[in-house]
Order: sequence, then C-alpha cells, then structure tokens
Amino acid sequence: MEDHVKIFDTTLRDGEQSPGATMTAPEKLEIAKQLARMGVDIIEAGFPAASTGDWEAVHTIARLVGTPDGPVIAGLARANRADIERCWTAVRPAAKPRIHTFLATSDIHLEYKLRMSREQVKATVREMVAYARSLCEDVEFSPEDAGRSDPQFLHEVLAIAIEAGATTLNIPDTVGYLTPEEYGALIRGIRESVPGADRVTISTHCHDDLGFAVANSLAGVRNGARQVECTINGIGERAGNAALEEIVMALHTRPQFYGVGTRIDTTQIARASRMVSSITGLPVQPNKAIVGANAFSHEAGIHQDGMLKHHLTYEIMRPETIGKDSSLVLGKHSGRHAFRKHLEQLGYELSDGEIETAFRRFKDLADKKKIVDDRDIVALIDDQLHQPAPIWVLEQVQVSCGNTAIPTATVRLHGPDGEVRTDSAQGTGPVDAVYKAINRVVGQPNVLTEFSIKAITEGIDAVGEVTIRIEEEGNGNGNGHDHPGGDPDRRESRARTYTGHGVHTDIIVAAAFAYMGALNKLIAARQERMRRKAASYTEANTPAFAMDLFGNSAWGRDV
Ligand code: KIV
Ligand code: ZN
Repeated sequence: MEDHVKIFDTTLRDGEQSPGATMTAPEKLEIAKQLARMGVDIIEAGFPAASTGDWEAVHTIARLVGTPDGPVIAGLARANRADIERCWTAVRPAAKPRIHTFLATSDIHLEYKLRMSREQVKATVREMVAYARSLCEDVEFSPEDAGRSDPQFLHEVLAIAIEAGATTLNIPDTVGYLTPEEYGALIRGIRESVPGADRVTISTHCHDDLGFAVANSLAGVRNGARQVECTINGIGERAGNAALEEIVMALHTRPQFYGVGTRIDTTQIARASRMVSSITGLPVQPNKAIVGANAFSHEAGIHQDGMLKHHLTYEIMRPETIGKDSSLVLGKHSGRHAFRKHLEQLGYELSDGEIETAFRRFKDLADKKKIVDDRDIVALIDDQLHQPAPIWVLEQVQVSCGNTAIPTATVRLHGPDGEVRTDSAQGTGPVDAVYKAINRVVGQPNVLTEFSIKAITEGIDAVGEVTIRIEEEGNGNGNGHDHPGGDPDRRESRARTYTGHGVHTDIIVAAAFAYMGALNKLIAARQERMRRKAASYTEANTPAFAMDLFGNSAWGRDV
C-alpha cells in the first residue's frame, strides 16, 4: 500500500498528560512494545526535557523498540536549544529517530503565554527547526494552538518551518475548538497555500473538548493529511486526544469513503486498549466505540434475533477484527501445552517462568470458576505482568465483617529485609480495614483517591478486577506530566499518583493486591528519588566543595 495514513501514537506523551495517568519506565516500555506489535508508524515516547525519568524512558524505548523494521521513535521538545538537544540525545539510539519541536502561533498564546511578537516567533521557528534538522533528518514542527491562529500568519510560519528543514507539519487543535468542517478546511488551506507543503507530510492533532477529535482528524485525512496523531482509548490532556482505535477502524471499515488505509494490525487493538487502561488506571467506558465492553454486545431481542440470522444485520465490524474474540474456553482439565499455545495466539511472548506462574494462576481460577475464557486469561496475565517489583509481599489476608460485626482485618506481609509482620485493624468496611492493617505494617502515608471494581466476565463466579489510585502525602511530583507548553518546574508541585491492580475471584483479596501494587510503586519511587538525590549530592560534593550541614567546608571554611 503506497498511499497510507501514518499512525503517530502519542499515548506515552500527550496521553500521559491525562490527570493521574502516571506510568513508570517499564510500563512505558511495555506499551511501546505493544504499539510496535500493532504496527504504529511513529511512537512519541515522551518529552525528554521534562525530567530525568522522561529522558530515560524515551532513551530506553529508542534503544529497545526503535529497531530498523520497527517504528520511528519521536520525542517532544520546545523550540529552544536545550530541549532540542536533550530530545536528540534521548531518541538518537533509534534506527529512525525524530525530533518533534513546537511553538505556539495563536495571538492568545503569543500575548499571554510566550510574550513574543509574531516576528520573534518566525525567527525562533526558523532557527530552531534548522537546529533540530542539523541533528536529525526527521523533524516535525507543530504550531501549537494552530486551530485558533490567524491562518495567514500560520501559513507564513509553516512555510518557514519547511524552508528550515521540517519534514512533517503537525496542525494541533490544542484546545479542541474547531468543528470537522473548519478543521478540514484548515488542512486543505495549508496544502493549497503554503509553499512546499506538497514536499512534507501534513499531520492532524486534535483534542476532544467538544467531542470532535476523531471527526476532525478524519476530516483532516479527507483533505489530504497523511499522518494522524492519536492515543489508545483517546486518553490525554483534559477531554483527551483522538482515539487511535476509532481512527483506524473508521479507515478500515469505510475504505470506499476514505480511499486510504493504515498499516495497523487491527487484531492488536483490544489488547493495547486493555493494557493502557490497566497501566494508567483509566477505565474504558462500557459504551466506548470499538473497545468498550458493550461495543459488540446485542441486548435487545430484535437485535439478537437478527444477529442469529446473520451478523451483518446489526454488526459493521467483527469483534475478532480488533482481537476481541472470547470464543476459546479453557477449563480445569486444559493442559500446559494448550495453555502455552493459546497465550501465543493471544500475542504474549512469555518466558518459561512467567508461563509457569500464569498456568498456576489459571489452574487456581479454573478450580473456582466453571468457564475460563480469554477475558479471564488476559486479565490474569496483564495483572501478573504489571505488578511492580515486590518490596512488600502480601502473604495472607483475613477479614471478618457483616451487618452486625465491626469489619476487622488481619494481614501478614513479607518485608524487604526478610522479616514477616502481622497486624490487624478495624475499619468502616472490609476494604478499609484491610488497608488500615497494611498501613500499620508498611507505614507509608498516602491518600486513596480512587477505587473502582469491575467484573471481568458475566456470572456470579466472575473474576473481580480492582483498580486503585493513591497519592503520596506531601507534595512534589517530578513525573513530567505537566503540559509541555507549561513550565517544567511546576511539575515538582503536583501530587504524585500511583496506580495498583488486583485480580481475584474474592474482591477483598483483589483490593488488597491492588493496594500492595500501588504501595510498592510509591516506595520504589521514593527510594529512586533518594538514590538520585544521593548521587547528585556526591557529584556536587567533590573535595573542593565538601561541606557539612552548616555550610563549612572540609577545611573549616565556607565555600
Ligand atoms: O495539543 C498540542 O498542541 C500538543 C502539541 C505539543 C503538539 O500536544
Ligand atoms: Zn496535544
């Protein structure tokens, strides 16, 4: 397929700017691998100048996922030398690196945010795009808030970016303000009026504030855009970005109308959606197009009757096209070999040890639940793969509760230095009692900000999946999830959030595992911060600068 729409996935950058969608570096790597498996053309892996953690995540993805036949790995950079340089060092190990630099062009941003004149913006774009191009052959430029920019000025800036060496021009509707007709006309205007526009790829980048992100992106494609920036499940700043799965399936399902497709392996969509939801802790609404739990369910009798006669009566896509086939049923008599084979078909590449653990969990589940289908298996495996390295391990949890009893929980935990500790607590309910008992052992102050529970399948014996979020008490963030247009220093003042998941047929046990996962992430992040602090302290305290707590150097004088 010569002419195709490139899918630029920004789940790890714009998507991570969703409130609370913090991801650790290993989680980002896992998502990047799934995006590569799905065949996305470009992965925007992060904003390297935002924090050391962001730089490291982008660098790791560039090294491990940016293979010669893998996707382009892009990093975001504001239009200044320091950001661009930092971005380049992070994406450089990729076989196909890209620097994505941006500067706002709307009068509102120029006046209130940047305090720059139009002439200054033009000069900066010329200089910074040329600088990025001197480092990297593949340079994308975005005029932030293009949707509210004066079209004449926007065209001038874009022409300068092309002259300076940009290879992709991305047109963000940063605040999700435009309608599909307006956004389509904006793309058409750029293609028709900007000198050199035929030599570069025009890209869409639409936010969903008015619910138009997907419609606007597709209007862009209809008017000649050949790259779409989007995120899995449409996660992102405020109302989110255009949803990758909706864009891809619209192009896939309506080829005559759009006349152009993508290179995405659509059968990987369901898994990507589940993975992102499970890692970020952002649930997918049941009626969400393509990936919602009900997207392929038929409830009304008349629909069910039609479906039984022919699926085309009420279905425009098959669930298996997006990898949502739950037809295979395994039971407690299924063997290791069938289980391993089935995991491979689901797209998992697991080590022998991981398969062994998964098989044990599957057998335990099959003992409790009559029918185990793909939804159960995917939930178990994702849960197993997404658990952080254990610092504290929950060995036992026991609860007594009821309408006349005071909920009381006892927990036994295995600690980092090998000790085993037991404690009990009472709470307003069984989950509260369990969390309080765990807190008594672990002693890490935090606030529970979200608790959600859902059944993986139908039926009274269904597996329950608990997702929770906790915030570290005190402030500070350092996770680099502020909007890139903002001041990176502000990141330090946002509360740190950690998600946890637990999967079990007993929802109290699932809730306990979810809490342990979030707590272990919190502790690991704290340890990592202390490690970095210690390292920078050692670096700064070379003999010439060695000083004690009172500011006296090792030689008894102030330095
Ligand atoms: O929404 C936006 O304007 C962006 C740019 C940085 C591309 O995310
Ligand atoms: Zn954006």
